[in-house]
Amino acid sequence: MNQTFLGVGYTRDHAGLPLEAVPVTVPGPEPDQVLIRVAASSLNPLEYKLAELNFLGRTPPVALGFDLAGVVAGVGGDVTGLAAGDAVVAMADLDGDGGWAATGGGSFALARRFLTVRKPPSLGFRDGAALPMCFLSAFAGLYGRVRPGDVVYVPGGGGGVGHLAVQMAARTLDAAIVVSSGGGPESIELARRSGAHHVFDYKHDDIAAEIGRLTGGRGVDLVFDATYDEGSFAATAATVRRGGDWVVLGVGPGRTTRVAETRSPVDGILAERGARHVNVNLLRYFSEPELLDDEARGFLGRGMELAMEWADRGLVVPHVGQTIESGVDAVNAGLRTLKAGGGVHGKIAVIVDRDLTRGDARNG
Ligand SMILES: NC(=O)c1ccc[n+]([C@@H]2O[C@H](COP(=O)([O-])OP(=O)(O)OC[C@H]3O[C@@H](n4cnc5c(N)ncnc54)[C@H](OP(=O)(O)O)[C@@H]3O)[C@@H](O)[C@H]2O)c1
Repeated sequence: MNQTFLGVGYTRDHAGLPLEAVPVTVPGPEPDQVLIRVAASSLNPLEYKLAELNFLGRTPPVALGFDLAGVVAGVGGDVTGLAAGDAVVAMADLDGDGGWAATGGGSFALARRFLTVRKPPSLGFRDGAALPMCFLSAFAGLYGRVRPGDVVYVPGGGGGVGHLAVQMAARTLDAAIVVSSGGGPESIELARRSGAHHVFDYKHDDIAAEIGRLTGGRGVDLVFDATYDEGSFAATAATVRRGGDWVVLGVGPGRTTRVAETRSPVDGILAERGARHVNVNLLRYFSEPELLDDEARGFLGRGMELAMEWADRGLVVPHVGQTIESGVDAVNAGLRTLKAGGGVHGKIAVIVDRDLTRGDARNG
């Protein structure tokens, strides 16, 4: 196959937004890869951050759009269990190219076999594409860590990662109490609908005092903080019980901007409690490829399988707050909204191929 299409991405180092149209040659799959004709994708903050900082050292042009749902167009020689025509959900390698299209002609993207799973018929392409990166982030933070009966605090339960983390903790991992927060009525409502038992307004409430009251002064067993907010980090670390876990997504305290390092009080706060600082970061698997060993592949692959199983059973339901057609202007507008914060709750979905998504029951 030697077709080309126009993707959406960055053509210069540190260019930031706006993204541009990027010519892409439809690639051939390596032995462990699946070539996907993309039906839908979604937006993640990672994509504007990569355009701004190019911190994985890629040589532009780079095409973005890592969350993928679509139809298998070809498989590499070592791939088993999938064949052309299968409907799948996948995450592209975060140091590779993605699948947004700049024009109506559709797009193709590659994903590794272990990050590609069959899409159940009950899940539309659009909603399937809202899951991979945010679901895997929540999964990496919570799975195997939350024990039945735990009290869990997920600040920002109206966010892309946050609402799925709340659902996972409350509905699949049997946390006894899930506490969450939001910065306005819509995110508070989404956190509540996702299964949080207590949701506070992080701009106005004294959440540490509320958690103290709810837990008889003990604190929560586990915090999963995916807010990338330094102020939030110190505040949420102070809610962990003695010997509990403070799990943070991404680069962690003091380094959230990636360009400057600040002093963070978090480790001091956790040390006073004998609590653990656990860092989970999907990007590290791709920035440090030696981490992507069989165990990591097995774990992430299990996450993708469970995303489909739990979505099929209605336990984890991605909330799509906005749906856009794939195109340079629409993607730029969506990423600007994500960057500004507070504008869209849950996920922004991207329809890449209207023909393929026509069968989605719930496309808005
Ligand atoms: N390295 C990795 O593995 C990895 C993977 C995925 C995501 N990430 C990063 O994780 C972050 C979250 O991603 P996302 O897709 O969930 O983004 P998102 O949809 O924009 O959600 C961000 C959430 O944070 C909440 N928030 C912000 N400040 C807060 C505070 N002080 N207290 C409580 N909540 C607060 C927001 O709440 P309101 O909207 O109510 O204000 C919003 O719900 C991004 O920075 C992303 O780049 C990293």
